[in-house]
Amino acid sequence: MRLTAAPRKALSSAAPLVALLVDGDKLSGAPAGRLYERAGRLLARKTFKPEKRKTLLLHADEDGGPRALLLVGTGPARDVTGEDLRRVGAMAVNCAAELGAKDLVLAGGGALRLGEERLQALGEGALLAGYRYSEKPAETTPPAEVRVVSDLRGARKALAVAQALGDAANLVRHLGDLPGNRCPPRHLAETARKVARRGGLRCKVHGKEALQRLKMGGILSVNQGSAEEPFLVELEYRPARPRATLCVVGKGLTFDSGGISIKPADKMEDMKYDMCGAAAVIGLLQALGELKPKGLRVIGIFGTTENLLGPAAYKPGDIVVTASGKTIEVINTDAEGRVVLADALHHAAQFKPDAIVDLATLTGAMVIALGSEAAGLFCQDDALAERLLAAGRRTGERLWRMPTYAEYGEKIKSHWADIKNSAGREAGSCTAAQFLFHFSAGLPHAHLDIAGTAWDGRKRDYHIEGGTGFGVRLLYDVVVNWA
Ligand code: BES
Ligand code: MN
Ligand code: ZN
Repeated sequence: MRLTAAPRKALSSAAPLVALLVDGDKLSGAPAGRLYERAGRLLARKTFKPEKRKTLLLHADEDGGPRALLLVGTGPARDVTGEDLRRVGAMAVNCAAELGAKDLVLAGGGALRLGEERLQALGEGALLAGYRYSEKPAETTPPAEVRVVSDLRGARKALAVAQALGDAANLVRHLGDLPGNRCPPRHLAETARKVARRGGLRCKVHGKEALQRLKMGGILSVNQGSAEEPFLVELEYRPARPRATLCVVGKGLTFDSGGISIKPADKMEDMKYDMCGAAAVIGLLQALGELKPKGLRVIGIFGTTENLLGPAAYKPGDIVVTASGKTIEVINTDAEGRVVLADALHHAAQFKPDAIVDLATLTGAMVIALGSEAAGLFCQDDALAERLLAAGRRTGERLWRMPTYAEYGEKIKSHWADIKNSAGREAGSCTAAQFLFHFSAGLPHAHLDIAGTAWDGRKRDYHIEGGTGFGVRLLYDVVVNWA
């Protein structure tokens, strides 16, 4: 889907659908024409009350001008948030898809002023709603073009940002929705290479031999049960004269069966999404390569493998030596994400970044705690935590801060090794976070447990069932607001 800025006169074109945002009892800025007059009367007589999420679809009964008009209520203009606008953009696209409209014109039709930030949010919602998983023909086809009416000088730029972020999030969703057999670790590595080539990013792919040289016993141990090669991938965005360096680290399990500590069969197919942290890293770097914001150097790193149970699979009781030299006692082979992240985080720390943020579908306990409403944020550095929380509020990719008490760290002490990879069910997300902090060399480190937010079983405005692309918009916002 292509997002473009259009002049007011697009409202008089013979578009298959025009969607107008309305907040009160008057239409403003609408051109002459029977369809618009009818809409104006319905608003003035309060036959249609433009409350938030209320819509009204009118079909044209004469030739010339748009074929249909969708009024989308926003409620009072002063209460409209960015998230509301993402939903409005999505509702318009969903309506266009229902109608089979190939072209959609979107515009403000009331008192609500569409500044640059609001245009961006509207565009993001439209683009996200246009995602379909491509393997199977979809029931409805979204419009190929969405023209957003604006005469602002910054409109083009705002929509270009929305386009890049929407495309990047949709790439993350596609990678997540791909089943394990279409998305083995080498597919993530190849996608990273392609993204790097297009965006002018540095890219380094470490295969199995390199991992052995780097003594990455964590990734290699988890990989022992799999016939597919594991990888550690680095992607670097470097603007001129960067003021700081941020490392973003992702969990990339292209399928997690649990290994020898095998998972129950129910919902195991969802474990194709266990690479969504790594996919978000790829998506973020794609957006950075396209939009090239100033100020911050960003290094994306992910470790990727399957967690299966071949004859050489790692076992409960095994002791693993990680790249950092620290040893891990394997209690449960299903707590594999932290074992892979141990090496990926250690690698990130070698760059001496100002901060590390990791994204991982790390624990089922996180899904139990917060569901799909927010990702868990674990961070011992208040300044870094605040940056992320603020970005969460702005982007609608919400975070909720979780505790990092030292007592949780006590629970992963091991008799046989430096630490163990599981302390059982109690506070499972919190003990997992403490485990990760062992490998980031004391640098400011935020861990985002995205187990509940990376995919969704329900359809909601700008998401269909499946991957959500969580993390791309959030972290892009962190990057551009860093200074
Ligand atoms: N990938 C899973 C976590 C997960 C489960 C994410 C369900 C989303 C939905 C992770 O590797 C895992 O299996 N974690 C275990 C840890 C336990 C063995 C300590 C878990 O959460 O049960
Ligand atoms: Mn697991
Ligand atoms: Zn996992």
